[in-house]
Amino acid sequence: MSKPLRIALAGLGTVGGGVVRLIETNAALIERRAGRAIEIVAISARDRSKDRGVDLSPYRWEDDMTAFATDPGIDVVVELVGGSDGPALTLARRALAQGKALVTANKAMIAHHGIELATAAEAAGVALKFEAAVAGGVPVIKGLREGAAANAILRVYGILNGTCNYILSTMEDTGADFAAVLAEAQAKGYAEADPSFDIDGVDAAHKLAILASVAFGTTIDFAPVEITGIRRVLAADIAQADALGYYIRLIGMAETEQAADGTTRLFQRVHPHLVPRDHPLAHVDGATNAVVAEGNFSGRLLFQGAGAGDGPTASAVVADLIDIARGDAKGPGAAPFSIPVAALETLAPADSGPRMGRAYLRFTVADRPGVLAEITAAMRDAGVSIESLIQKGRAGAGGTDTVLVAMVTHEGPESAIAKALRLLHGSPSLTEPPLVMHILSD
Ligand SMILES: NC(=O)c1ccc[n+]([C@@H]2O[C@H](COP(=O)([O-])OP(=O)(O)OC[C@H]3O[C@@H](n4cnc5c(N)ncnc54)[C@H](OP(=O)(O)O)[C@@H]3O)[C@@H](O)[C@H]2O)c1
Repeated sequence: MSKPLRIALAGLGTVGGGVVRLIETNAALIERRAGRAIEIVAISARDRSKDRGVDLSPYRWEDDMTAFATDPGIDVVVELVGGSDGPALTLARRALAQGKALVTANKAMIAHHGIELATAAEAAGVALKFEAAVAGGVPVIKGLREGAAANAILRVYGILNGTCNYILSTMEDTGADFAAVLAEAQAKGYAEADPSFDIDGVDAAHKLAILASVAFGTTIDFAPVEITGIRRVLAADIAQADALGYYIRLIGMAETEQAADGTTRLFQRVHPHLVPRDHPLAHVDGATNAVVAEGNFSGRLLFQGAGAGDGPTASAVVADLIDIARGDAKGPGAAPFSIPVAALETLAPADSGPRMGRAYLRFTVADRPGVLAEITAAMRDAGVSIESLIQKGRAGAGGTDTVLVAMVTHEGPESAIAKALRLLHGSPSLTEPPLVMHILSD
């Protein structure tokens, strides 16, 4: 029997605790599938005395997790601390520099430093694996790296944040407004006390930037991701969308495009979208994640499942460990981003202006004559063609003297909508900035 794969766990919170439970519960089948045992030899977190609902006495405690990097008794460091920088990054850098394989669930760290870490892993000839960083328990990184490896991926998009999806689908079911549903989600533990990373779209953007790199063979480029969260979505928007045959979902979308100058550009956006009711993503409810990848030979692939939680996320972390135990993570196929870092392309960000599509626009306006005419004139002058327009009674947003004007546009370039909004910018008729949501095309 081969020697066990000896791992050290840094971080014993939701995911770390789940990994301990999974490895203990499924030890025998993991050993059969991996060809050797996976053995936890050391653990670390901030507070040794904390009750974590699992017996940790069999494992060696280390106060300083960076000691794992130089411990000759450890083969793989599993980083489950979190944070793009700080102790997680220090540990990751040291572990790889010392020739230890690294498994992480840390999307923020991979989105910001993934290329640096992959370079270090490739130089050291060790694995860097991060399946759990994108869509939790859903094996989308493996799906793209392995199952869809023969395809050119044309577009990758999906529901990448369970908290946002829970909030939007609950707003849909109950008719309640965003703030009430967020408060309820926090009370139930579905949303963090500080939910901004989730609801402002940053978490989804981290995952999208990683997905784009794996899908398109490009270097991770987080900075240009256009990010809009769900804070400004009203119950009235959800009702309007419903009346028009759509559900609202926060969608992360990445695709490569040919620019006018002939260069290939990378488009990346996280934005609330109207999703047609017959689209598979429209029926992804609650805290579920789902990713669609369109391959040029496979057609549309849909990956769906739990995007968070101790069990699902541990499932992805331990799948990475099994790959390493099997030796799959060595050799030419081992590049963390599918293609060796030196061969990844760096693409300039795409300009959203020429993108064609339909959109939903919602204006909160003063309740007085002439306002509707002002908005429609701006649309006409900017070349935006209106497919339908709904003016909703008072209240709902901004107090009693406001009305909502919602419209859906015909297909046209995004630059036209941007121009219309510029024409209306600063108008005293608008009581708050307009909300634009793109309509997901098939
Ligand atoms: N939760 C999920 O469902 C999920 C899903 C996908 C990916 N992820 C990612 O997985 C990672 C871990 O998430 P989590 O939800 O498990 O977080 P968590 O519950 O907050 O656990 C974090 C752990 O790291 C430890 N820690 C934090 N700062 C530390 C420091 N300075 N030094 C030593 N230990 C430190 C904490 O120690 P104490 O316990 O002693 O405080 C805790 O055990 C994050 O990168 C997250 O984005 C999580």
